Amino acid sequence: MPVIPVPGRQRTWAALTPATAYVFGVESADDTRVVQHYWGPRLPGAALAEVTAGATAWFVTGFHDPADATELLPVDGGRRWGVPSLQAVYPGGVRSVELSFEQAVEHGPGELELVLRDQVHGLRVGLGVRVHDDTDVIERWTEVTNESGEPVHLLRLDSGAWALPEQAGTRYAGVAGAWGRETRLHRGELPVGETTFTSRTGTTSHRANPWIMIGDAGESGGEVWSIALAWSGSWRLTAQRRPEGDVAVTAGFGHDGLTWPLAPGAALRTPPVLGLHTTGGYGAASRAWHAYARGHVLPTPAEERPVLYNSWEATGFDVTEDGQLALARRAAELGVELFVVDDGWFGARTDDTRGLGDWWPNPDRFPQGLGKLFDGVRDLGMRAGLWVEPEMVNPDSDLYREHPDWTLHYPGRRRDTMRNQLVLNFGRDDVRAWALAWLDGLVTEYGLDYLKWDMNRSFSQAGWAEGGDLLWIEHTLGVYAIMDELRARHPGLRIESCSGGGGRADLGILRRTDQVWTSDNTDARDRQAIQEGFSYLYPASTMSCWVTDGPNPVTGREVPLRYRFHVAMAGTLGIGGDLTRWSEEELAEARELVAAYKEVRPVIQHGELRRLTGTPGVTVSAVQYTLGDRVVVLAYNPYKLDERPPRRLRLEGLDPDAVYEDGAGARRHGAALMHHGLTPASWAPFGPDYRSEMVVLRRVQDGS
Ligand code: DGJ
Repeated sequence: MPVIPVPGRQRTWAALTPATAYVFGVESADDTRVVQHYWGPRLPGAALAEVTAGATAWFVTGFHDPADATELLPVDGGRRWGVPSLQAVYPGGVRSVELSFEQAVEHGPGELELVLRDQVHGLRVGLGVRVHDDTDVIERWTEVTNESGEPVHLLRLDSGAWALPEQAGTRYAGVAGAWGRETRLHRGELPVGETTFTSRTGTTSHRANPWIMIGDAGESGGEVWSIALAWSGSWRLTAQRRPEGDVAVTAGFGHDGLTWPLAPGAALRTPPVLGLHTTGGYGAASRAWHAYARGHVLPTPAEERPVLYNSWEATGFDVTEDGQLALARRAAELGVELFVVDDGWFGARTDDTRGLGDWWPNPDRFPQGLGKLFDGVRDLGMRAGLWVEPEMVNPDSDLYREHPDWTLHYPGRRRDTMRNQLVLNFGRDDVRAWALAWLDGLVTEYGLDYLKWDMNRSFSQAGWAEGGDLLWIEHTLGVYAIMDELRARHPGLRIESCSGGGGRADLGILRRTDQVWTSDNTDARDRQAIQEGFSYLYPASTMSCWVTDGPNPVTGREVPLRYRFHVAMAGTLGIGGDLTRWSEEELAEARELVAAYKEVRPVIQHGELRRLTGTPGVTVSAVQYTLGDRVVVLAYNPYKLDERPPRRLRLEGLDPDAVYEDGAGARRHGAALMHHGLTPASWAPFGPDYRSEMVVLRRVQDGS
């Protein structure tokens, strides 16, 4: 899909996607502003010029500037009082950024860059817009270059701002949380004023996730405007609802208070901010995001993610060759395809107080290295994976004793630890080189198929003598660069993003990782709510879910094994329990459920997701996946008498004229399944707590 000049209009363009249009241009009366004229359903070509009418100020008093909330990159400068996307301080303390449009540069049919310049202070600002022919997601970014001979200090550099039509409505959806309760869905009325969602942790964070959806929509109806930032460090997204009624959203890397020095000649390019307009409610918005992630973000979208076993909840730091092999044997019997050895295999790491940074096999536990363990894993028919936490160091480690200057720190300030660890500065070339060397060495020596890349604390005292606050950008870019290089050197390597659970889940990290550890909370009931929020933006294949022991080690809640499986089967299935303690009955049930998952895995991991009903984990709920002729429904009923469950569950998105057959051979018309519904056995009014089921349907006949 192209970005085209709007016929009959000067300096005005339309970014066209299959179903939407995004029209923007240089404001005719004043070439200091690039404004958004329209963002919504696709318009006929002849109508494009119409939506640019009335763009100039219609009512200007000394206190009112109507263009405030429609600029692609409102700056802190001139007559503007809204949230700035670009704030800079020039030499002499000059704060007013005054840009004028220079030219539009086409970088191929789907990509346009508008170039603006502050003539006096030599700041070049490029506004990038890119569209693709298979998605309605519009990608935007900003690149600033200091073409002057003096340094400029940036206080805010967002990727871009988006304006919503005044009739869009002011309901929003987003996710927020904490450790163990990530990505909990929040919906509400956007208040008049400025609402900021942010992370100051140096990572995407458990607290919030960098996206927002706005619109008066339901799950399956209504227009939704979504904005997401593809970035894995600190970030900020501000939704500004003006009393006049309009809403604008600006998003970018970094958090409030940071100052980025831009040396003469230096350039800084933001991560992409992505905008998506959809009709069809939050459900359709999610499906469009999933399709975008598959088409343009994920490194290996066509692959099926293997069923993995992870040792963390079973053995903690108590990692031994025999212990891991005992788990591996059981895992292989269940049908597990990838065995991941978690924390505790290296250096002097027998608890969380020491050894982090010393990335060689623990000489007491693995005197001959990890070869025998991984040979054993491979002999059992599984692939081999290993946990690493490259960005961290325990002060009690050889690495720290040798390189205390490699951690984030300020002279004369404390170095506060969290979980007894400090953060290594991945902005530094020497630290990056060290990390790449040992990671590459490990992957090469053991032929690793998989790394679980963990990151277990937020930044504090984040000083960097050479780079200052650029640390908050460069650290993340360092992580990206190392992952990218590892993948380039080892094309078969797959990576899981983890940050104390789901602290680093975003469309930036997903460009170089295949899945995300969703949460350290593996309690199936809690997980349902976490997974619901996760599913708003990210596809099921990226959502790592383990079945662990009962009662759950984190919450103490006892949930039947089948229910635990059915919850974990909603994403990429894994097992994380202590299999040496599972009974023969549990192992047999697990084997059956792993096999059932593998049967439907393509549908769950690559299909279209529909959140059918309910509040997951709290009331009866169900989620549907559709791929080609196949439909999979996971239905959950956590309580016996909490609420009377609905009798029937109406499916969505089927062919009304086709006939579908379930596993028992019963046949129903698509129209009946959609408009009348099926009756989940687990929703019968009386029965034990935590009933669940998986219904599998196949389209067997077309026509009526
Ligand atoms: C936090 C992760 O989320 C856990 O799964 C586990 O890998 C521990 N770190 C290990 O320290």
